Amino acid sequence: MKRNSILRVIATVVAMGGFATAPQAADLPNIKVLATGGTIAGAQASATEYGYKSGAYDVNSLLKAVPNLDKLAVLTGEQVANIGSQDMNDEIWLKLAKRLNASLAEPGTSGALITHGTDTLEETSYFLSLVTKSDKPVVMVGSMRPATATSADGPGNIYNGVAVVTNPGAKGKGTLVVLNDTIHYARNVVKTDTTSVQTFESINRGPAGLVNTGKVFWFEPMDKKLGPASEFSIDALDQLPRVDVIYAHANMSADLIDAAIRNGAKGIVVAGVGDGNMTTPALDALTKAAKGGVVVVRSSRLPSGITLRNNEVNDDEKGFVASGELNPAKSRVLLQLALTKTKDPVAIQKMFYEY
Ligand code: DGL
Repeated sequence: MKRNSILRVIATVVAMGGFATAPQAADLPNIKVLATGGTIAGAQASATEYGYKSGAYDVNSLLKAVPNLDKLAVLTGEQVANIGSQDMNDEIWLKLAKRLNASLAEPGTSGALITHGTDTLEETSYFLSLVTKSDKPVVMVGSMRPATATSADGPGNIYNGVAVVTNPGAKGKGTLVVLNDTIHYARNVVKTDTTSVQTFESINRGPAGLVNTGKVFWFEPMDKKLGPASEFSIDALDQLPRVDVIYAHANMSADLIDAAIRNGAKGIVVAGVGDGNMTTPALDALTKAAKGGVVVVRSSRLPSGITLRNNEVNDDEKGFVASGELNPAKSRVLLQLALTKTKDPVAIQKMFYEY
């Protein structure tokens, strides 16, 4: 190339602000990636088959499949579990929460990203938001299509998840959930569709923000207590109290309520019809259970709205708790943690308004 052409190229580059040099690792935040399995790590037998196996890939394979992550953060992966999240259990919850708290306590760690199946992501994220004692950002991501699918959504969710967890606005917001370009508070988010990539919604309150190609836009702050301010600690726990969820329906009997109590449930959440209602036989069985020291929470099987205290059921008289905005799955999470502190339904009702 002649000297003048070279000079023209240099002049053009200078006019454009110079070569965009990749940020140096030393300048990037350190993010811990805790993987638990799920569809995001899933693999089909072949691209033309629907069925797939969750948790087929490990955390480092997932991260390698996402271009340009090295421009956002230095990521360190750890495989906490590798399961479909329909198999999530209290043992993995406690292990994940303890690894998360320990990782965030490391001075050099700026935040954490957690990969998880979507079936129980709304429960795990709420649990973590209540017991994580750091205000450093925590973001959970999953996917609705396996890693081997055409137009897999996992890599984009991971990229956006890292963009959110490294964004200054994510600090102090508790555990966030990022899928399909949307940011949700753990407390508000629910899975609403069995297969669509647009499945997570914060039906009652709306999303915490949006993220598109890594650019983050925040909406309303969260007005409920979160981990650093919560009274709940899992440090000394190696199990959680048993809480069962029972789905209400026409002609509901007391049989499953009686079975839950016989099997050691310390709390029962009823996914009630309407505003947390149920048949008289079920109501009588739960009233008896509450008088016997089992904590009863009325929630609703409906996707939106608030389960009101003393609406059609006199909670004061029966010693029940009304779940407010929390759906049955999240009510179970909060009741498990509440039962590590108290069995008093009045004190627990206060927690359902605070968390
Ligand atoms: N096996 C389910 C799970 O791991 C699939 C849902 C998903 O991850 O998208 O939750």
